[in-house]
Amino acid sequence: MIDLIQKEKLPRHIAIIMDGNGRWAKERNQNRLFGHQQGVLSVQEVVEGCAEVGIEYLTLYAFSTENWKRPQAEVNGLMELLVSTLQSEIEKLHENNIRLDVIGDIESLPAICIKQLDAAKELTKNNTGLTLVLALSYSAKWEIINAIKEIARDTKEGKIKEEDINDDLINQHLSTSHIPNPEFMIRTSGEHRISNFLLYQLAYAELYFTNTHWPDFRKENLFEAILNYQNRERRFGQISEQLKPA
Ligand code: FPP
Repeated sequence: MIDLIQKEKLPRHIAIIMDGNGRWAKERNQNRLFGHQQGVLSVQEVVEGCAEVGIEYLTLYAFSTENWKRPQAEVNGLMELLVSTLQSEIEKLHENNIRLDVIGDIESLPAICIKQLDAAKELTKNNTGLTLVLALSYSAKWEIINAIKEIARDTKEGKIKEEDINDDLINQHLSTSHIPNPEFMIRTSGEHRISNFLLYQLAYAELYFTNTHWPDFRKENLFEAILNYQNRERRFGQISEQLKPA
């Protein structure tokens, strides 16, 4: 299927809401953490798949601000899984020229996670292949509120004027200021929601929903999704004829 993908029509940035780990585990009479553990295998597949086709940025929604409200054992288990996965995978990511980046309220994570993430970012910072962005303790409303506060402060202090506030300026104050907006967003496991993920950045993104639970999502599912994206016409509010060269 990878042969059908047109290199010149790739999204630069794919964002994924990895949903359905819990349901996948329940269907197998296993606990939720087992689902998350299996989900890590899908993360590996999708990272490899993105690197193979030449995607520049992949953002994975790994832990939302709202996820802190889950049972403590699950939160702890997810944090431990994050640390152990970083430990075991970071060399491989580095060898494959992948750069790791993180968005979200990182300070709220356990110290050991922060340490691992900092080490992984530092090790891979000069890599030039795929940038893998982990959204951790992230929510779009949190990010937008922070941006508004910073812009309000700068306005009050006279650093900027009200008329300077535009799309570019707002983008500069988001945690993705150094990353292009995703053209394509995938959500697994049948829910048709954005769930507080990259609300500003997804304004013109194509959305793709699949019933496949995240632990079953494989490279072939990713390639199928990319092919679906390539068959869409992105109009950005214009009409079809305006997009075609005369
Ligand atoms: C959503 O499924 C998944 C999560 C909240 C966590 C995702 C985490 C991983 C795949 C593993 C860690 C990731 C990395 C990058 C090492 P859910 O629990 O909401 O599933 P449900 O809706 O079926 O209950």
